[in-house]
Amino acid sequence: MDCKGFSLTALLTAFCFFVVMADTVYTDLSYSFPEEMKRGSVIGNIAKDLGLDVNRLSARKARIDTEGNRKRYCDINVNTGELTVAERIDREGLCGKKASCVIKQQLVLENPLELHHISLQVQDINDNSPKFEEDAIKKDISESADKGARFLLEEASDADIGQNSVQSYTLQINEHFVLAVNTNSDGGKYSELILDKELDRERQQELTLILTAVDGGTPPRSGTVAIHVTVLDANDNAPVFSQPVYKVSLPENTPLESVVVTVSATDADEDQNGEITYVLGHISEEDKRLFALNRKTGAITVTGQIDYEDESTYELRVLARDGPGLTSYSKVIIEIMDVNDNAPSIALKSLNNPVPENVQTGTEVGIINVQDRDSGNNGQVHCSLQQNVPFKLVPSIKNYYSLVTTGELDRELVSDYNITITATDEGSPPLSSSKTIHLSVADVNDNPPVFEEQIYSAHVKENNKPGSSVCTVAATDPDWRQNGTVVYSLLPSDVSGAPVSSFVSINGDTGVIHAVRSFDYEQLKSFKVLVLARDNGSPPLSSNVTVSVFISDENDNSPQILYPSPEGNSFMTEMVPKAAQSGSLVSKVIAVDADSGQNAWLSYHIVKATDPGLFTIGEHSGEIRTQRDISESDSTKQNLIVSVKDNGQPSLSATCAVYLLVSDNLAEIPELKDMSYDESSSKLTFYLIIALVSVSTFFLTFIIVILAVRFCHRRKPRLLFDGAVAIPSAYLPPNYAEVDGAGTLRSTYNYDAYLTTGSRTSDFKFVTSYNEGTLPADLTLKKTQTSVDDLEGLCTTNDSQVWPLIFMSC
Ligand SMILES: *[C@@H]1O[C@H](CO)[C@@H](O)[C@H](O)[C@H]1NC(C)=O
Ligand SMILES: *[C@@H]1O[C@H](CO)[C@@H](O)[C@H](O)[C@H]1NC(C)=O
Ligand SMILES: *[C@@H]1O[C@H](CO)[C@@H](O)[C@H](O)[C@H]1NC(C)=O
Repeated sequence: MDCKGFSLTALLTAFCFFVVMADTVYTDLSYSFPEEMKRGSVIGNIAKDLGLDVNRLSARKARIDTEGNRKRYCDINVNTGELTVAERIDREGLCGKKASCVIKQQLVLENPLELHHISLQVQDINDNSPKFEEDAIKKDISESADKGARFLLEEASDADIGQNSVQSYTLQINEHFVLAVNTNSDGGKYSELILDKELDRERQQELTLILTAVDGGTPPRSGTVAIHVTVLDANDNAPVFSQPVYKVSLPENTPLESVVVTVSATDADEDQNGEITYVLGHISEEDKRLFALNRKTGAITVTGQIDYEDESTYELRVLARDGPGLTSYSKVIIEIMDVNDNAPSIALKSLNNPVPENVQTGTEVGIINVQDRDSGNNGQVHCSLQQNVPFKLVPSIKNYYSLVTTGELDRELVSDYNITITATDEGSPPLSSSKTIHLSVADVNDNPPVFEEQIYSAHVKENNKPGSSVCTVAATDPDWRQNGTVVYSLLPSDVSGAPVSSFVSINGDTGVIHAVRSFDYEQLKSFKVLVLARDNGSPPLSSNVTVSVFISDENDNSPQILYPSPEGNSFMTEMVPKAAQSGSLVSKVIAVDADSGQNAWLSYHIVKATDPGLFTIGEHSGEIRTQRDISESDSTKQNLIVSVKDNGQPSLSATCAVYLLVSDNLAEIPELKDMSYDESSSKLTFYLIIALVSVSTFFLTFIIVILAVRFCHRRKPRLLFDGAVAIPSAYLPPNYAEVDGAGTLRSTYNYDAYLTTGSRTSDFKFVTSYNEGTLPADLTLKKTQTSVDDLEGLCTTNDSQVWPLIFMSC
């Protein structure tokens, strides 16, 4: 606007000049006066200056005019001719920063028309104060700024010009900054802040300074502005840990994710510069597995299995770093506390397995080592064994125990042991573990074979097949394998003068006793064999047993007729008195049987007779008696065929012929001569009769003596025989002798006894070979008593027979 005004003024001026030059005289008036004068203030006297007549002014209609529609700033007082201020004149408003400010006005007079240019020079007065654009100046200055650093400040403006414009600046006194004032190329003044002392954001984050701009007017005017200095952070602080060393204790087996400790560091810096991240310093792979550090929070957590037994302390270096990278370190010491988490372990260091059963009490059979990885009480271990085993643990050097026996071992009772060792620590709660040791007991040959029976008896029939089994012995041996393997053998001995091995043999493995030969009851009724059972140990153990073999009778001998002689040509003739009455004893058939029992129980029958009704024979006695009285009509020669049968199955028999002569006189017998050729036979009969008589006499005498002795000494023994009939010993078969159980024939007490009948009361023959008279009575008593014992032995061992021998003592 100023510029436009100016150009318009210039145009008008040129026009005025043109007008003046054309037809009128123009005079330029110029006045200089300060701006902002009051209205009505006199600028100057135009009339005077122009030489006009004051009285005519009004007539000439003097007035101030403007070119165009410009504003009229002044008036003329027509009475005085003075030029006065009509409007407020503000230089700054009219001319701004122009060095000269001129207002063009015109004075117009009429009659004649006159035109005068009036230049009003408006002078500046200091009516404006320096002013800053903004209310406050904001300055961000890094705390790291060096001393001497300059910071340009905005200029203050002052509408006034020249000296009235800003001439200088002042800064409020402060400890950090000073002010430098400089001049622009256009003469304006500006200022700079100079850092005089370094800033520290951490001490003072911001400061406010007052900057004052002063102009050169009189009086000077000033304007102020506040400078807000914000101290910008520089990363001048490293993080600082809250503790130089963090010490924590941590029980082992702490669960994963547990927080061990939280480290914390602070950084006085701001934002990025104060933003801390935590990192674990140089750390082993192992530790890395166990611990993790949260970058942000600084919490150290457990990420692996913490085992006190592996490592009891950990030392971690923790590093705190701020954004730009300043770091500091701290140490975390983690002490691991033991927890009773390890059961004791039992190790078998050595074991004598198997252990022989004959080891002495207190023998060491094994060594055991016990370990507990825990420490303190948690690692204190006690060992024990279960009850009922003959072993105990004896502590030896630290953590070692000897396993020793506490009693005798017997493999045959307990062949192996499961020894359970229990180890318990002293932790709370205590942990324990156990181990079972299998211990075998090795065999020692300490058991001899034992026969199942104390005594064996076997019964064998005579005429057995050689090789047939007689009996089986069995012995057991509880020892192991060969120590318990039983082998049987016969102990050498004699049986009737022959080695026992010629009678029986034994199977060494099975214990079966076989007959080697065929036995003959009539020769050998029983014998004893000693069987030895021996094991295969080294040395072997053995035991023996007696096997009594009893041979039982078979009906293998036919009856043997002793009288009458069975030979056909040497018969005997019995005399039968004619006067013989019914029932008279005529003769007697005497037969023996080498067998025994039923096999020797003979029966007699008349199988053929001259006169069948005349004679009978006692079935069991063999006595031939007349059945009726002999009459004259009966033939003198009577022949009987007698059969003797035993009672065996099948029965055997023999026959003989009995010749009877019914006559009272031998001479009457015509055939006697015929018969006398058998002189020896009749002599035999004669001798027989003599023998019979003498034996009977002797026997009677014996009885009498016995009775007499008994009469004197009431306690003397006596032998009683019922219905005894003596038979001459000459008739006995040569081999007919009772053999006792042991097979020895006791000649001193040679009681030969046999039955001719089944009757208990008749036909018992008792033959004794010793002379009663040669022995004292007491001795006799003893000897007979002994022989009774022997006989009783026979009775019990050979019970198939019924013995009719009765022996009594008084
Ligand atoms: C010992 O243990 C074994 C196996 O467990 C078993 O077969 C055996 O019978 C046990 N022996 C004893 C004497 O308990
Ligand atoms: C038998 O016993 C002996 C000691 O008497 C012993 O040395 C041997 O090993 C035992 N044999 C067996 C098979 O056990
Ligand atoms: C048979 O055994 C007995 C004891 O049982 C013993 O005294 C005897 O010597 C043994 N005989 C033989 C021949 O071994």
